[in-house]
Amino acid sequence: MSTVPYSEKLEKTSALIRENDILVQKIVDHGLSYYDLTLTELLSFRSAHKNDTRSVADHSSVIQSLKHFIRDWSAAGSHERDATFPQILTTLESLYPDPVGREQKKVLVPGAGLGRLSYEIAAMGFQTVANEYSFYQNLAHLWILSLPNTTQRESFKLYPFINWWSHQRTTTSLLRGVAFPDTELSALALEKLCLIDGDFTTAFYAEASSYDVVVTLFFIDTARNIVDYLDKIHAALKPGGVWINLGPLLYGTGPWLEPSLDEVLAIAENIGFELVPTEERWGADSFADVEAWRGKVRGAFAGYGWDQDSLSRNAYSAQFWVAVKK
Ligand SMILES: C[S@@+](CC[C@H](N)C(=O)[O-])C[C@H]1O[C@@H](n2cnc3c(N)ncnc32)[C@H](O)[C@@H]1O
Repeated sequence: MSTVPYSEKLEKTSALIRENDILVQKIVDHGLSYYDLTLTELLSFRSAHKNDTRSVADHSSVIQSLKHFIRDWSAAGSHERDATFPQILTTLESLYPDPVGREQKKVLVPGAGLGRLSYEIAAMGFQTVANEYSFYQNLAHLWILSLPNTTQRESFKLYPFINWWSHQRTTTSLLRGVAFPDTELSALALEKLCLIDGDFTTAFYAEASSYDVVVTLFFIDTARNIVDYLDKIHAALKPGGVWINLGPLLYGTGPWLEPSLDEVLAIAENIGFELVPTEERWGADSFADVEAWRGKVRGAFAGYGWDQDSLSRNAYSAQFWVAVKK
């Protein structure tokens, strides 16, 4: 017997790739029926595009989307949600304490990922629109939304760590599965939630001044042009509408602008937002030294895409603010 049974590890990994593929197949099958496509159409599209250079990027997008099941839909991701959802959901609750009145209120969540935040907002009774432009995230999100509300907790399992072998303390952790969903699905949420596929900067032109609240979670820094994002958030809101933001400033691929936090806030004010005070419990005051912003913007430690067993951690001082459209 070898000291380190490495071939066995490779064989087990191959078997788990096949397990993941069973889940992916369910997602694809649902996508085909949702978009009214046949498998033959999909396969002929694939063979027509077999020489495209996107396949590596596609593969990594699929892996990222699968990993997002942890953050959004598993007990293992609850520490990420617990660090970010309460300030958002509590703000919505204090804006609209009467559950009956919430039925008339529209909330937009751009960059929704796999949709747990938008789902929780819908479960509070708001008309909720999740928006996301990643086809991969949307296929997985649509599949989740298609599950009947009788779906048992943790009835699915995924092996999300097998694609990245760095920082693993043990092979057992590398190969471990994550069960989901961690919750019974709420019929109210499934009824109140709708997903709009597309680029946030163009998908809502026709819906200017339509939303009571826009919630951005780990989103604004995905912009190539953050000024455009802030403009579009402002445009989507009704006068007096509220923008709730929480997230870092990790500028993504090829941004045209990378303003610092004070610049982002100054731009937001210039566009027509007014920051309002936020509760101390949501984090350290990021601008205690600036009179106009004191007690309004708060930073708190928040993880993203953590593997709790890994030897590495990715976390931010995520910034929380609430701003009203003047
Ligand atoms: C960092 S992730 C955060 C996802 C989710 N809000 C969360 O906190 O788990 C940012 C998401 O925004 C999406 N996104 C980026 N730019 C977008 C755009 N212009 N329109 C819609 N979605 C976008 C990405 O595909 C990605 O899913």
